[in-house]
Amino acid sequence: MKRIGVLVSGGGTNLQALIDAEKSGVLKSGKIVCVVSNKSGAYALERAKAAEIDAHVILKKDYATSAEFDRALRDCMQAAEVDVVVLAGFLSILGSDFIDAYRDRIVNIHPSLIPSFCGDGFYGLKVHEAALDYGVKVTGATVHLVNEITDGGRILMQKAVYINDDDTPETLQRRVMEEAEWKILPEAVEKLCAEI
Ligand code: GAR
Repeated sequence: MKRIGVLVSGGGTNLQALIDAEKSGVLKSGKIVCVVSNKSGAYALERAKAAEIDAHVILKKDYATSAEFDRALRDCMQAAEVDVVVLAGFLSILGSDFIDAYRDRIVNIHPSLIPSFCGDGFYGLKVHEAALDYGVKVTGATVHLVNEITDGGRILMQKAVYINDDDTPETLQRRVMEEAEWKILPEAVEKLCAEI
């Protein structure tokens, strides 16, 4: 059984999908042992508490440099003996100290079909705004490994979602979550945990 650490920044619906997958047995080769948020009010923290998972807040402003923040995140994961790290709506870029410590063991969910609408500045609702502005008819979600290039690591899983003529960024975000993210994130995490 691999020990999973989840990094979050917001509502935590992807964290919830992982918690639910653990309960239903879809996620059976790993166990969520710790959740860390870089935002103090994040609702994801409530979800962690409700599921009786250790939850911590680590704020960038409490550290003099990004590298120190990065090391604090890494130390927290290592203290919990985490094997696999999942970025579930974690909206801060990880530095090399963290990535080196968990090379090929960090998974991110991104709300588009990479290589479209990804990289620096593309996060959350902005991704769906960009897809609608461009006029693509198909979007989706991607689970990939994390390396030093933003959204540039090896793709593990993708799922397509059709765009409707009357979609807004908000309706599209919700459908991409329901039809793609909440399914492929637990599946990809299970596959990675089983493989390592
Ligand atoms: C999700 O749509 C996730 O794909 C996205 O943020 C949202 C978090 O929602 N992540 C990114 O944009 C990363 N670049 P959640 O907190 O409800 O899981």
